[in-house]
Amino acid sequence: MTTVSCVALLCVYSLALTWCLALPRLSPGDGIGGALPVDGAPHEPSSPDVIAARKLHFDPAAPRGAGCARNAHPSPPPQGRYPVRTPPRGDPARPTPRPSTWRRARIARRRRREGGEASTRSRRSTVTVVVVVVGGGSRGGSRRLPGAIIIGVKKAGTRALLEFLRLHPDVQAPGPEPHFFDRNYNRGLDWYRSLMPPTQEGQLTMEKTPSYFITREVPKRVQAMSRDVKLLVVVRDPVTRAISDYVQASSKREGKMKRFEDMALLDHRLGIVNTSWGAVRIGVYTKHLERWFKYFPRDQFHFVSGEQLIEDPAQVMKEVQAFLGLKPFVTDKHFYLNATRGFPCLIKSPENHSKPHCLGKTKGRRHPDVDPRVIERLRDFYRPFNAKLYQMVGRDFGWS
Ligand code: A3P
Repeated sequence: MTTVSCVALLCVYSLALTWCLALPRLSPGDGIGGALPVDGAPHEPSSPDVIAARKLHFDPAAPRGAGCARNAHPSPPPQGRYPVRTPPRGDPARPTPRPSTWRRARIARRRRREGGEASTRSRRSTVTVVVVVVGGGSRGGSRRLPGAIIIGVKKAGTRALLEFLRLHPDVQAPGPEPHFFDRNYNRGLDWYRSLMPPTQEGQLTMEKTPSYFITREVPKRVQAMSRDVKLLVVVRDPVTRAISDYVQASSKREGKMKRFEDMALLDHRLGIVNTSWGAVRIGVYTKHLERWFKYFPRDQFHFVSGEQLIEDPAQVMKEVQAFLGLKPFVTDKHFYLNATRGFPCLIKSPENHSKPHCLGKTKGRRHPDVDPRVIERLRDFYRPFNAKLYQMVGRDFGWS
């Protein structure tokens, strides 16, 4: 091999290596709405039944990606659900530092002196590095900040809506809730973006975190990210929503909670509603929506009826896809009503007659029988707020 070609190969190797090392530094300053290149990571799995698998996928002990040296090593343990930080120097999880450029040049020179075999090996590894880096970057797409967010409401059907949307080939969304604007805001937009699955040009990135709807600081923060983001809100009869919330909370506390009736009312004889209980407060939708309307115009919101999402998911999806500017892909062919559960289940690939897939056991739980007098009292309490909501939104959801 001539000296010239050896030097050329060395240059290619150094360039590839420099590119690899520079990759993590691309994110700061690449701007709101910009894209963070990824290293050929596969697209996020797009079904709820793989949420457990997704957690495994984010397992810090699992090797991720193969392009650059940093990705071939275990990531640091995640602070939240995602491993995002580069481990500090000296951390055992940090990859062993590569020899410096001048040292690599010296090693290469020595190998060349030692004979053909060593130099052949070095040439092979150079080619491998270049192919993996370039190929991975172009195939994986880019991670982008969301163009649409399901901001709420908790227990109204937000998971169902997201999973229905993920049937669409032009939608990509992480399975877990990122909780960026409420709990992780100090981690910055680059962290947020890193949670998003890679998308190709023309695909829509989405996420859902229902607590955004009720968290005071969130509307302003979302606006600071993007004034154009589209906002989806699933609403459900606030009385059944409160019961659903209660069922979820009591399942976590293994039945150690007071009865729903005793949580919802402070005084049964006087019928005083416990407005300090979160499950009741969340259902006063107008109170929360007023805050959002200070930051975004009405036409940037789309309201989904949680009841209609169960009764007629295809119609809901037609309207949601139109609102998001997506082609009408998800239709009645994608739904199958599971009579036992009483909820629609998904048929991911109707053309292949794939098996219906229902949401997990935590969705569509059995509700307790609640004293009808307490239900009636709650209905009276919510009625004026519901009427105001219908006015603000321009739609009657039909809650009695
Ligand atoms: P219940 O468990 O009280 O019935 P969220 O995903 O926002 O937590 O909402 C959960 C609610 O979604 C469930 O409340 C259920 O009523 C509703 N839902 C809507 N479509 C559903 C579906 N296809 N399968 C299961 N639950 C669904």
